[in-house]
Amino acid sequence: MTVLSSALDTASPDYRANRDAMLARLTDLEAEHAKALAGGGAKYVERHRGRGKLLARERIELLLDPDTPFLELSPLAAWGSDYAVGASLVTGIGVVEGVECLITANDPTVRGGASNPWSLKKALRANDIALANRLPCISLVESGGADLPSQKEIFIPGGAIFRDLTRLSAAGIPTIAVVFGNSTAGGAYVPGMSDHVIMVKERAKVFLGGPPLVKMATGEESDDESLGGAEMHARVSGLADYFAVDEPDALRQARRVVARLNHRKAHPDPAPAEPPKYDPEELLGVVPGDLKIPFDPREVIARLVDASDFDEFKPLYGTSLATGWAALHGYPVGILANAQGVLFSAESQKAAQFIQLANQRDIPLLFLHNTTGYMVGKEYEQGGIIKHGAMMINAVSNSRVPHLSVLMGASYGAGHYGMCGRAYDPRFLFAWPSAKSAVMGPQQLAGVLSIVARQSAAAKGLPYDEDGDAALRAMVEQQIESESLPKFLSGRLYDDGVIDPRDTRTVLGLCLSAIHTAPYEGARGGFGVFRM
Ligand code: COA
Repeated sequence: MTVLSSALDTASPDYRANRDAMLARLTDLEAEHAKALAGGGAKYVERHRGRGKLLARERIELLLDPDTPFLELSPLAAWGSDYAVGASLVTGIGVVEGVECLITANDPTVRGGASNPWSLKKALRANDIALANRLPCISLVESGGADLPSQKEIFIPGGAIFRDLTRLSAAGIPTIAVVFGNSTAGGAYVPGMSDHVIMVKERAKVFLGGPPLVKMATGEESDDESLGGAEMHARVSGLADYFAVDEPDALRQARRVVARLNHRKAHPDPAPAEPPKYDPEELLGVVPGDLKIPFDPREVIARLVDASDFDEFKPLYGTSLATGWAALHGYPVGILANAQGVLFSAESQKAAQFIQLANQRDIPLLFLHNTTGYMVGKEYEQGGIIKHGAMMINAVSNSRVPHLSVLMGASYGAGHYGMCGRAYDPRFLFAWPSAKSAVMGPQQLAGVLSIVARQSAAAKGLPYDEDGDAALRAMVEQQIESESLPKFLSGRLYDDGVIDPRDTRTVLGLCLSAIHTAPYEGARGGFGVFRM
């Protein structure tokens, strides 16, 4: 039997303390998510409803098949910036007429749905997901276009939105635009570049220039409807393929379009899987509030994978990294999970070998992060830690099976890279509220700065200001700590969302299902030169 056993004692004070710390973080997270749900706030929501319009998430709900889940992505985008949490855009994966689709919806209650730099990042990330996983892309459009005060940040890179739509189309991935309101100037190219276009009567406004601009440019007198109304585009310009009498009708027609796409998944759905033997609720008590205390990731794996069944690979070698095979909602996965925090040479070589094996067998990889990075020190440098870490990074970079990453605890330094951090293009990356990510821990970073400053003063023959040093260290520590937190990093789109640990199996299952829409094949060769 390869069913994992568990040593988690739910009656122990440690478990209770871990659980309390996690629940406190989840309460904080819920408050931040509530800000995204509130959109532009009561005043703008009421005004929007007063106009007889549906909110962004209501539109999505009506679009999706009843009682199917919506995996919302990056709800904390723009957290910690001057812009509203959520970045005036809702994105996620949902099922329409049995087809998993990537859905984006402007939130018109936030500054007219205008796109700021974070909305742009979020929209581009959504396009990447659609392209990598061959998900039809449905845009629910109502936007004031570029957020004008921040135009310098978005005008030039923003062109990628329209480029992506036509590249998706060229790759045979359907794109559908449903226009509920304003979609003018550059925004007109969202319907303009989409394969299928639906517009709502007397609501859609799709023109390159509105009446005032036309008056300025050519002197022509015009009005919204004749320049860009749904009826005009459906009857005269031909930009609209379908004319909807109201919003629910538009969403109904969008569903009919999807029903006729003949979009087929590359992989059949797996048979229903056996749930884990242990209660996922217990995931709340696995990660210590203080990340300096290690935890056994097998306790997490036991609560994520089908039947808690895990065939560990090389269990006696490189024991600070657990590797092994399992299934998650019926999909085979290879798992790499940090066990003791530090990655040594043996762990790095084991990881490189394991990643190659997964590629030979076409098995997706799941990275469970809790690492302080690669080991430093004379013994380890002399033992070749750089070249061994490089082997692991080479394997991760050139691997061609889909990757999933979950930041459970620490994800520091090059360890974040080796474990398939954001820059290594995992198909999806989520963080738990307990996660922390930075170039190194706050204390270490502040300490390094202090040592460098002390040496610099000594080299110049100057006295060192000890009080100033203590104050600087404290300040730097606090700054790095706050910049390492998941809501800060999620705000910058460095993950696809911060999730409740208890939802991890469901979230990963939804991701694996979306991933299996596209074909994939592991790398049989094609790795860089492995330094031996
Ligand atoms: N950039 C920055 N802020 C914008 C914006 C934009 N593109 N569009 C709207 N806003 C702001 C408004 O200033 C307003 O802020 P306030 O409430 O603090 O005064 C808020 O968003 C709501 O706008 P409002 O005009 O009251 O909403 P509306 O629902 O009646 O109209 C639009 C929405 C989008 C039709 C209208 O605001 C508009 O035409 N905006 C400019 C569109 C444009 O030309 N964009 C450039 C395209 S590249």
